[in-house]
Order: sequence, then C-alpha cells, then structure tokens
Amino acid sequence: MIIGSTKEDLSLEKRVALTPEAAKNIIGLGLKICVEKNYADHIGIKDEEYQKVGVEIKNSSNEVLNSCNLLIKVNCPSDGEINNIKEKTILVGMFNPSQNKNRINDILKKKINIFSLELLPRITRAQSMDVLSSQSNLAGYRAVIDSIFEFEKAIPMMMTAAGTVPAAKVLIIGAGVAGLQAIATAKRLGAIVSATDVRSASKEQVESLGGKFLTVEGAEDLETSGGYAKEATENYKKKQAEMMQDALKKNDIVICTALIPGKPAPRILTEQLIKLMKSGSIIYDLAAEQGGNSAYSQPGKINTVDGVKIIGVKSLMNRLPLTASSLYAKNLFSFIRNLYSKEKKDFNLNLEDEIINKTLIKKL
Ligand code: NAI
Repeated sequence: MIIGSTKEDLSLEKRVALTPEAAKNIIGLGLKICVEKNYADHIGIKDEEYQKVGVEIKNSSNEVLNSCNLLIKVNCPSDGEINNIKEKTILVGMFNPSQNKNRINDILKKKINIFSLELLPRITRAQSMDVLSSQSNLAGYRAVIDSIFEFEKAIPMMMTAAGTVPAAKVLIIGAGVAGLQAIATAKRLGAIVSATDVRSASKEQVESLGGKFLTVEGAEDLETSGGYAKEATENYKKKQAEMMQDALKKNDIVICTALIPGKPAPRILTEQLIKLMKSGSIIYDLAAEQGGNSAYSQPGKINTVDGVKIIGVKSLMNRLPLTASSLYAKNLFSFIRNLYSKEKKDFNLNLEDEIINKTLIKKL
C-alpha cells in the first residue's frame, strides 16, 4: 500500500502533511510513501531528507495521485487534483466540510473514502490524532507572541533603578485548548492573567495555570454533555457584558478564542464595550475567520479604533509552519496506524471503530 502527498496551494497554506520524521514512522508500519518533488522546500525541508528515510520523490502531483492508495493533505485538494485522484483512493486531511461542500461532493461522487480529522471524537484513544488540539495549542501560544509584538509596553513587572514598570494585564476569553495555552504563555512572560468561559468546568483548569477565573455571576453553565459550549442565552450575554465592562477597563491585551462547534463564533466584544478600553490596548481575535468574537475584527487586518488595535487572525499556522506541520504529521501518523492492518496489509475501514466511523464523511 502506498501513501502519497502532494503540495498544498502555497498562496494559502505553508504547512505540509508529511514530515521526514512522520514518513519514517509510516514506513515502519510496512507502507510505502511518495511525494511530489520540492514538496516542503518552502519551509526548508529538502527532498533529500525525505529520500533518506525511504520516501520516493515523484516529478509531478499527477504521478503521486496515480501511484497512491491513500492521499494525505492539509486542506481540501484543488479541483484539478480531484479530477485526477483515482477511484477508491482514501483521502485524509482537514477538509472543513461545512465550507467545502461542493468539492467534497465532487470527491464523494468519485467513490473516494474521505476522512476529515476535525470530526474526530474527543476520546482518550483519539488524543494523539487530535488535529484541533495540536493546532489550537499552537494558536494559543502564537496569539500571545503576536499580541505582545503589537503592544507598545513591556509585559513583566520590572523593578529597576530607573523606576518600576507594572506587569501588563492579559484577559483570555474562552478557556479551551487555545485559551489555556494562551494563559500558560502569558503567565510565563510575566503578565497578570485572567480568563473567562461559559463552561464553569474550565475554572479549575484556568486556576491550575495561575490565571484568575472571571465568573459570569448569576448566569447558567453552558456546557453540553459532550463537553463543548452551547450558544449563550440573552440572559448570559447580558450578564457577561456586565462582567466585561470592569475587566476591559483594567486589561491591556484581550485574546479572544471563543468558539461553538458548527456555529459562527459568538460576538462578545461589542462596539460599546471596546470604547471602555484604554488607548494602546490590544484585542487579538483568534476567532476572526469564524465570524469574530470582537467588533471591528476582520481576518488578516489590524483595525485601530480609539487607540485600541483589533487584530483579526488569518491563517495563523502559516506563522509557525514547521511546528504546526510536525504536530499535524504526527496526528496523521497515529490516524493511519489505526486505519492500517499489518496482518491484512491493507487499510481496514472498520465502521465499528468510533474514530473511523466519525471521521469518514458519508454524505453532506
Ligand atoms: P473550542 O475551540 O470549540 O472553543 C474555545 C472555548 O470557547 C471553549 O472552551 C468554549 O467553552 C468557549 N466559549 C464558547 N462560547 C463562549 C462565550 N460566549 N464566552 C466565553 N467562552 C466561550 O474549544 P476546544 O478547545 O475545542 O475545547 C472544547 C472542549 O473539548 C473542552 O471541554 C475541552 O476540554 C475538550 N477537549 C477534550 C479533548 C480530549 O478529551 N481529547 C481534547 C481537546 C479538548
């Protein structure tokens, strides 16, 4: 069985689905691998590094598509690639089914088994394959680094002969994977950190990282039985806005990470709330591409309103493509290891396995 990978659209995506390290592990399972030439040149990984671990380099993406039984990608293949993928190929990646309906329907028509790893169940056995966690964790880290870069003051408290510099205050909205990493990173850099979430279960996690949890007093807990957030009620939104008024006056940097699966991002920071912030403050909206947690947030833009910089994030993983690729490729390796039967020397699409069943797109 042969695993293939072709280049992504480099104008949109710098990550790669296969690193030499992951390739070595996949080959260790008894599989063969081929990639298109100059596959990861743009992030400094030469073809020779792949060849050294046993990967075959093909001259074109078509050659890869013709040879492989399973194709791994970061994003949805292009229309051109879809035309050229052989019937019955297995396709694995992060295909964002709600936004790529037409392409995915075209793929399904070709009798291709398509697995989208954002659909993985959040169960213990799937943790090593959890692409949402591996990428969100990096996003939370990078959000702090980027915000600090834009902030025109120092972060940690400094007591010097020339005087004392107070520590910056950072507020994190949404304490999921990205938010928790943002708390940890901001703490390490010396900020005073607080965080809020609609799931009261996150209080303990925030506090264990040294953050202060801001509870929305008198409002209901909005956690679903699956551990995710529900959409906030009008009562919750009102109480949350009241709580935010005080918090926004005090904080220098606000990092927004709030998401609700399958829904547009909740709008939390309104124009009126932003007016309360000090000039020079930063809002960093990780949810910008999903509709934004903040007013004035636009993906890929920095808008300044009354001295407050609102940074709308776009393609954040392109800012640390090597680490993001390394973790993503490890996630893919774990998924492939679960899918491949060494005994049968074939991929085993066992729909009784919750991981395989939930990630396989049957229809849209
Ligand atoms: P996410 O990326 O879907 O959302 C980010 C955070 O925003 C969540 O914590 C959510 O509660 C919060 N949020 C939503 N609306 C909000 C609002 N209006 N105001 C404030 N906060 C709001 O979340 P993520 O990181 O995917 O985590 C979701 C759940 O999955 C968590 O319970 C997490 O612990 C769990 N999880 C479990 C894993 C496992 O068991 N393998 C792995 C990763 C996450």
